[in-house]
Amino acid sequence: MLRAVAGSSAAVLGALAVALFLLLLTLARDAALPARNRYGLVFDAGSTHTSLYIYRWPAGKENGTGIVSQVEACSVQGPGISSYADNPAGAGASLKPCLDKAMEVVPAEQQQETPTYLGATAGMRLLREQNSSKAEQVLAEVAKAIGQYPVDFRGARILTGNEEGSFGWVTVNYLLETLIKWSFTGTWSHPPAEDVVGALDLGGASAQITFLPGTPLSDSSTRALLRLYGTNYSIYTHSYLCYGLQQALKMLLASLPQGNSSSPQISHPCYPRGYQENTTTAELYDSPCVQAPSTASPAESLTVTGTGDPAACSAAIEDLFNFSCGANQSCGFNGVYQPPVRGAFFAFSGLYHSLHLLNLTGGQPLSVVNATVRQLCNSSWQEVQEKFPTASSRQRRDACAASSYTLALLLHGYSFDRSSWPHIHFVQQVANADVGWTLGYMLNLTNMIPSEAPQRVVGLQRSSWVAATVLLTIILILTFCLLTAVCCQKGSSGYERL
Ligand SMILES: *[C@@H]1O[C@H](CO)[C@@H](O)[C@H](O)[C@H]1NC(C)=O
Ligand SMILES: *[C@@H]1O[C@H](CO)[C@@H](O)[C@H](O)[C@H]1NC(C)=O
Ligand SMILES: *[C@@H]1O[C@H](CO)[C@@H](O)[C@H](O)[C@H]1NC(C)=O
Ligand SMILES: *[C@@H]1O[C@H](CO)[C@@H](O)[C@H](O)[C@H]1NC(C)=O
Ligand SMILES: *[C@@H]1O[C@H](CO)[C@@H](O)[C@H](O)[C@H]1NC(C)=O
Repeated sequence: MLRAVAGSSAAVLGALAVALFLLLLTLARDAALPARNRYGLVFDAGSTHTSLYIYRWPAGKENGTGIVSQVEACSVQGPGISSYADNPAGAGASLKPCLDKAMEVVPAEQQQETPTYLGATAGMRLLREQNSSKAEQVLAEVAKAIGQYPVDFRGARILTGNEEGSFGWVTVNYLLETLIKWSFTGTWSHPPAEDVVGALDLGGASAQITFLPGTPLSDSSTRALLRLYGTNYSIYTHSYLCYGLQQALKMLLASLPQGNSSSPQISHPCYPRGYQENTTTAELYDSPCVQAPSTASPAESLTVTGTGDPAACSAAIEDLFNFSCGANQSCGFNGVYQPPVRGAFFAFSGLYHSLHLLNLTGGQPLSVVNATVRQLCNSSWQEVQEKFPTASSRQRRDACAASSYTLALLLHGYSFDRSSWPHIHFVQQVANADVGWTLGYMLNLTNMIPSEAPQRVVGLQRSSWVAATVLLTIILILTFCLLTAVCCQKGSSGYERL
């Protein structure tokens, strides 16, 4: 009797296995068909350097989440394009090695239809402030260089601070799938609003904070209204010009007392003890973020000496901020309105790099982070060189200043505290893509994030996978039953023998 059950089960199992095999064969053949990919190129022309991001996605699936992947990030040799103000053609020429690289990655027959963008950020905003015709010349030259390649070039422009913040926010939430989520069965849902994360970006010349506030915003200049996948988001975003890492450290250096002797000399509390370098007043004041005193003569040379003094370093950094809120009830700094931070945040670019150098991006509690930074800031040049054997000399010099500035910006600038600190995740990448504004920018300009919720659901392939899974489950259950039956039979005959 049991043997009969086992026999018929085996027959059913056999049939199911054959069916499953055929189904999987079909699926495998579908998957093996050459899926046509599309590509997109975005240059991130930052203040200190330029990178080219190459993105790829399956053609015809533009509306899904998690569809776009980063194929390659090419780092342009040399400084940011704003440094070519007096040699605009040099800015164009600097992009060529990365464009050549992109032409190797994107198949020749796809190049004509590859949307290509260049977005410039705070470095170019500052240059435009200094001399707008120089900024235009640089943009014209980079556009000319990209135009020589067979791509669908859609322009080089300077992003506003609000765009930079918003697109960073879109990027991170797109990669985390917190705006819309496709389930395995091909249906989609809107994750709860609490899943949406804030974005904290620290560039070379500006810093952005962007998040979904808990209450309506009282200052509309900090508001961005986005409609994504059928949901409206009213987000808070602000970009602090000059509070990017390089410019902030420049403001710091310029703010330190210079003695008053005939050979001016600066004691830098954030540089390691025993570190020394020479600079000139011209270099010290060569940015619109710092104001030269009327008495400064450009050629004067300066000696900068590190004193490695953590308390004095923190105090000097705090002095870069004005914490008075003025008329606003709630503010970030320098009188800029900001509602209280809320929810989880992803912190990237300079915020990640400055703490990653100290191994502090692994979710360490604030007390550990503070103690580690304080200890670093108390080091000699010799100790710092030993601590960071692979870092560049500039990274070593700035390690204390950069990490101290990062903490001051987050804790005092944006008012994170002991309880909100654990909600900041320091990342360079999410889902193998670099986090920054570029992906959000491309998604927006190619309309890959529709404003309405998707109509189209369940591709054939998805339902086939579901069928295969159901079948597999049935087979597993039947196998289990069959094994149990055979076992019991053996077990009972065993007892009989006893
Ligand atoms: C994406 O969505 C838009 C608007 O909802 C629609 O017009 C377009 O056809 C969709 N594209 C694809 C590939 O499904
Ligand atoms: C801006 O730069 C151009 C050269 O590109 C120069 O002729 C002009 O005088 C500059 N303007 C100012 C205000 O410095
Ligand atoms: C600080 O900000 C407040 C309000 O925004 C302003 O009134 C004050 O003058 C600022 N102080 C300095 C030193 O800039
Ligand atoms: C960071 O961690 C790595 C490996 O865990 C270690 O080799 C390195 O010395 C650490 N760096 C610092 C500054 O603690
Ligand atoms: C994206 O593009 C649409 C127009 O297609 C625009 O209305 C929207 O504001 C853009 N999003 C952002 C973050 O700028």
